[in-house]
Amino acid sequence: MELTPFPASPRFQVFFFQIWEQRASKQPSLGPCPTLCGWRGGQSEGPCIGRRGCSAASASCSRSCGVKGPTPPTSVFAGPSESPPSRPQPTCDGAQRRPSPSTGDPTSMMVTWTTFLPAESIVLFGRDPGEAFTRSARGWASRFVDGGKLGRTAFIHHVSLEGLEPGQRYAYRCGSEQGWSRPYSFQALLNGSDWSPRFAVFGDLGQVNPQSLPRLQHETEMGLYDVVLHAGTIRGDSDALVGDAFMRTIEPVAASVPYMTCPGNHEQKYNFSNYRARFSMPGDTEGLWYSWDVGPVHLVSFSTEVYFFLEYGQHLVAEQFQWLEKDLRVRKRRKEHPWIITMGHRPMYCSNNDQDDCTQHESVVRRGLRPHQYGLEDLFYKYGVDLELWAHEHSYERLWPLFDYEVYNGSTEAPYTNPRAPVHIIIGSAGCQERLDPFDPEPREWSALRIEDYGYARMQVFNRTHLWLEQVSDDQNGKVVDGIWLIKEQHGPEAWH
Ligand SMILES: [Fe+2]
Repeated sequence: MELTPFPASPRFQVFFFQIWEQRASKQPSLGPCPTLCGWRGGQSEGPCIGRRGCSAASASCSRSCGVKGPTPPTSVFAGPSESPPSRPQPTCDGAQRRPSPSTGDPTSMMVTWTTFLPAESIVLFGRDPGEAFTRSARGWASRFVDGGKLGRTAFIHHVSLEGLEPGQRYAYRCGSEQGWSRPYSFQALLNGSDWSPRFAVFGDLGQVNPQSLPRLQHETEMGLYDVVLHAGTIRGDSDALVGDAFMRTIEPVAASVPYMTCPGNHEQKYNFSNYRARFSMPGDTEGLWYSWDVGPVHLVSFSTEVYFFLEYGQHLVAEQFQWLEKDLRVRKRRKEHPWIITMGHRPMYCSNNDQDDCTQHESVVRRGLRPHQYGLEDLFYKYGVDLELWAHEHSYERLWPLFDYEVYNGSTEAPYTNPRAPVHIIIGSAGCQERLDPFDPEPREWSALRIEDYGYARMQVFNRTHLWLEQVSDDQNGKVVDGIWLIKEQHGPEAWH
């Protein structure tokens, strides 16, 4: 990947997309990459990770959104949605935009988009309403060459918007004098930990059969979410053509709300190069693993794929594991952000009727590479991870609080109140070309609920003690088919005893 030389008069062609968290990217970052790791446009020797000295700044300040505490609802989300929204229009090639935002530091936001020819990287923005596009910010572009036969070249633009007011809505458009995108808007996140972020959570949303997407788009437009968490399998395939089409597909969501990702198995082509180039997440690992804080939550995203695509470097397993341990053991952060929620693609446990890793008693994600190196279950238990979000299985499964195949419910009456082990939720049924994954007819004692519908989850972390998570069935016209309060008066490993 190289910094783009800008020819004198490029022709504007295509735009899209993405705003994302800027906390760790003060140094414009893609530039040094080829020098350090020799990576060239996806045909690469290894990801460019751990080599740039970015550090995450923490957001702190105080502002309350006024949410005091939960009363048990059927759904805490004032919702749309008995009437399904219309399907997204097919995108015409060339002129679509594909934004996607994500944030963490509420005062900065990164906008990313792509052109097929070189162009400058500029975002015009301003408070909405009131300022029109009175401010401008410039960024940089990187030249990306897909590893496929076509060797498609794209220019991926990154512009950081700084000095945003937490909670303020902004309008923006991206581009250059060669052409501008249509206007979009987003709301800067609130800051501090004393507010109640709302998440859409799902995995396995593909370019083919993205069944839940219209409903997600509709709910995003209604302002239901502060953040989207997409837990891998992001395009259903990973070459540039499919990637371009998929980015256009998710643009209505990803242009408006921080769109946070982790890599899944379908992103693996050419050493995850499309994923790494298109989804710029916090930190210095090209989105493979990172963490960030939002409200009372410390969110940790990581790659289960490092355990399975060892041809891209077995050292990544160790590097990620060491990073995870370092990140999780920061105790003082937990006072400010007591919830630790992880997001990874392939689960440790599942009861689907396939031969996936999670169906194996000694699953690799759970126990690590043989002989039991870098297993994640012990690590997450050791540091008191509260909630583990997974995908990959195209279904919804909620597990009882669980460690090493033992159920540790808080009590018989209230299993998720002060549970004594992490809670696992698998949400890989947003919709992709592989359809749904059936369950094994024999339920497991550690599995609390299984639903074989297309859908996604809504999650709201109300405060330091109360988290609500509900599952929406797209097949059942948006019906909420499951919901739990996860209540924790204590966080950390102390909570297990
Ligand atoms: Fe997957």
